[in-house]
Amino acid sequence: MIIAANLKTNLTRAKTISYLNKVERFIEKNSITQEVLVFPATSSLVKHQAGIKVGAQNAYPAINGAFTGEIGYEQLEEFEIKTILIGHSERRHVMGETQEELVKKFNFYKELGFRIVYCVGEPLSVRESGHDKMMEYISRQYEGIDVMYKNLIVAYEPVWAIGSGLTPTPEDIVTIHKELKTKSTAPLLYGGSVKVTNVQEVLSLDGVDGVLVGSAALYAEHFCSMCESAQLLEKKINNKKES
Ligand code: 13P
Repeated sequence: MIIAANLKTNLTRAKTISYLNKVERFIEKNSITQEVLVFPATSSLVKHQAGIKVGAQNAYPAINGAFTGEIGYEQLEEFEIKTILIGHSERRHVMGETQEELVKKFNFYKELGFRIVYCVGEPLSVRESGHDKMMEYISRQYEGIDVMYKNLIVAYEPVWAIGSGLTPTPEDIVTIHKELKTKSTAPLLYGGSVKVTNVQEVLSLDGVDGVLVGSAALYAEHFCSMCESAQLLEKKINNKKES
């Protein structure tokens, strides 16, 4: 399973380093074999730590150049970053990134062989317009994206579930993930108000290959506990298969 923490615009560099060290120690001590990704704020990027893949929340599709306020590949390369989030709802809806811009970013980092966590998801008004309209909306977010890319991970994050404490019902997640799996066979994460108390339930749903966690991952202890839940769940599933 893939357990990912999006730290957004939180934690200083010093706090991020301490966070990563705590998670790293936990992974080692508890023999966590899940794939653990952490996306710190840009100013807190550090070199990949064994056991954790550190990724960028955003970068401009350029090696370097005159793009005030942005970072490019050169700045990621310094920290050996090879994983990037693209299409997060906050980039789409708060920063106003268009599908065209996201496709440019996707293609640029794909050419460089990055692991890309590509996010899709609908706002509340779209969800309220009915299932078909909602799926059409989400389908448009796949336009121009190479769904066969071997280093692709997709994250389904309903915008209304992000940071709100609300989640779709388990049945809804299963239905939507089933439809999204017909668009791409890439691992599919669920994100939106995942926390220590619901992570096992979410991870146990059909078609959920992992989670992308925001606020509940801000404390290393909580994120570690979610990694442990995934590990226990995998063990349970394997035991069931063997018996
Ligand atoms: P929350 O877990 O805070 O709802 O955020 C989810 C998210 O946006 C992860 O990318």
